[in-house]
Amino acid sequence: MHTSVIIPEKSKHFIDLEERYNAHNYASLPVVLTKGKGVHVWDVDGKKYYDFLSAYSAVNQGHCHPKITETLIEQSQKLTLSSRAFYNDALGEYAAFITKYFGYDKVLPMNTGVEAVETAIKLCRKWGYEKKGIEKNKAKIIVCENNFHGRTTGVISFSTDPSAKKNYGPFATGFEIIPFNDLSALAKALTDKNVAGFLVEPIQGEAGVIVPESGYLTKAKQYCTDANVLFIADEIQTGLCRTGKMLCCDHENVWPDILILGKALSGGTLPVSAVLADDEIMLTIQPGEHGSTYGGNPLACKVAITALKVLQEEKMAENSEVMGNIFRQELKKINSSHIASIRGKGLFNALEIKHTDKEAAWKLCLELKENGLLAKPTHGDKIRFAPPLIINKEQLMECVEIISKSIDVLD
Ligand SMILES: Cc1ncc(COP(=O)(O)O)c(C=O)c1O
Repeated sequence: MHTSVIIPEKSKHFIDLEERYNAHNYASLPVVLTKGKGVHVWDVDGKKYYDFLSAYSAVNQGHCHPKITETLIEQSQKLTLSSRAFYNDALGEYAAFITKYFGYDKVLPMNTGVEAVETAIKLCRKWGYEKKGIEKNKAKIIVCENNFHGRTTGVISFSTDPSAKKNYGPFATGFEIIPFNDLSALAKALTDKNVAGFLVEPIQGEAGVIVPESGYLTKAKQYCTDANVLFIADEIQTGLCRTGKMLCCDHENVWPDILILGKALSGGTLPVSAVLADDEIMLTIQPGEHGSTYGGNPLACKVAITALKVLQEEKMAENSEVMGNIFRQELKKINSSHIASIRGKGLFNALEIKHTDKEAAWKLCLELKENGLLAKPTHGDKIRFAPPLIINKEQLMECVEIISKSIDVLD
C-alpha cells in the first residue's frame, strides 16, 4: 500500500505553528486551507479540492454563500452584540421566523451545538419536575449507545466512547444508556416513571452514519408520548436538509417535543444553535435560570434567518435527496474488495472500509486528498461523505471518479 505524503513547505509552516502553539485535541489531515467557495476549498499552495466534510455539516449551504456573507457583513457593521440584558431589534424577528419555520411556540438561542444539547437537557429535567411531577433529583434521560452530542463534562457523562471520557470523571448521573435502533430496549427503559426524556440522533453521525430501521423514529416517538416522556431530537448534524428533508425526523413525519439545531444554522459563518419547543416545556425556564452572553446576538439572528431562507430558496433538501441517491448508486458500482458497506440518507453518507490495516481509512483519505477530495475517517474504519448540498450531478460524478480511483491505493 503506497501512502507516503509529501507536505509542501508552505503547508508545513502552518501545520508546525499549530502543532507548536495549539492544543493537540484534533488529528487533522495534513492540508492547510485558506479559501472556500461553494463546494470547493483551496489550500495555501492553490490546490483546489471538493469538500466532502462540509465542516461536519455546518457548511450545508456551501462555503461563503453570497447571501449569507452579505447579511453577515451588513449586520456586523450595525450591531453585533447587545447581550440579553437589553432587547435588540433582531432577536424578536428571528424568534418569530424560526418558530414559524419549524412549527414551535418558542426558541431558545445558544451558540455551539453542545450548549444547545445542555439546554435541552435542562429544559427536559425542568419539565420533568414541574410538569410531569418527578420527585426532586430523580429525573432520568434515556440516551443511546455510540451517541455523539458534544464535549462538555455533562454531555460526555453519557458517552460510550472511551476516548471521550478517559480521565475526565467524575461524571454526571441521571442518564440511562440503551442500544440505538432497539425499540424493545426503549420500551423497557420507559417503564421507569422517573424518565423525563429520550435524547436521540435520528441518524448517528459520528458513530459512522448509522441509519436506524425505517419506522424506528415513529415508534420511538409514539412510545415516548404514551409514557409522557419528551422525545428530544438532536438534529445538529442531520438537520437543515443534510439527509434530503429539512429535518431527518421529517422522513417519518415525526415531530420532536424538543428540537436541537446547530451547525448549518449559520451556514458555517459563526456558532449559532437553537432549541425549539412549545410553551409547556419552554416556559418552565424563568429569567436568570439559563442563558449565554452571545446567545441570540443580533449578528447570529440575522445570519440564521438568511441561512434558513437560502436552504428553502435553493431547494437544498430536494438536491440532497436526489444527489444522495445517485451518489450511493454510483458508489455501489465501484468494484473493490475493500468496501464493506455504503450507507446513508441524502448527502449524509459513509463508506465502511474492510482491510487488515487499521489505518486503511486514514490512508484512503490521504489518497483522496492527493486526488482533490477532502474527507475524514470517523471511528477508524468509516469515512463520512457529506459535501455541501449545492453539489450538482457533474461535480458529484467527478467525485465518484476520484473515490473510485483512490480506493486502489488500498490494494
Ligand atoms: C449530533 C451532534 N450533536 C452535537 C454536536 C456538538 O456540536 P458542537 O461541536 O457545535 O458543540 C455535534 C457535533 O458534531 C453533533 O454532530
